[in-house]
Amino acid sequence: MLQDGDIRLINFPKIFDERGNLSVLQAGKEVPFEIKRVYWVYDVPGGEIRGSHAFKTVTEIIIAISGSFDVILHDGEKEHRFNLNRSYYGLFVPKLVWRSIENFSTNSLALVVTDQLYNENEYIRDYEAFINQTKGL
Ligand code: TYD
Repeated sequence: MLQDGDIRLINFPKIFDERGNLSVLQAGKEVPFEIKRVYWVYDVPGGEIRGSHAFKTVTEIIIAISGSFDVILHDGEKEHRFNLNRSYYGLFVPKLVWRSIENFSTNSLALVVTDQLYNENEYIRDYEAFINQTKGL
């Protein structure tokens, strides 16, 4: 049974149409939290890596709205790798998960939906501190 806290892919509804397809996400439905903030990462130069941090309590969903990229997650015990390349999948990333995003394709667009407003104090940017914090969970 999936818990809200599990790393997983969420499949958003796809409404196929000859005029072009449409997908949707709704707070409390496909997104299991109240949406507080949406941000997006774009114009990433080839070879760049984004992320490389964890959050103390923030939950995120990462979507490849356009193009593709790899998301490498570490939960303190093991690594989980995802290649996101469809706009109708969202990667659910719980709190206390280290994430890096790399291999951005040209013109890729990463959309991130979160349950909290921006707060620099939420960031764990030191990997050793992150591993120590996940110990004993
Ligand atoms: P950061 O989350 O470190 O980017 P990434 O994880 O994609 O590499 O954010 C980079 C900078 O952008 C950060 O120092 C502050 C700013 N920022 C905001 O002001 N608001 C936001 O919601 C986010 C995500 C970042």
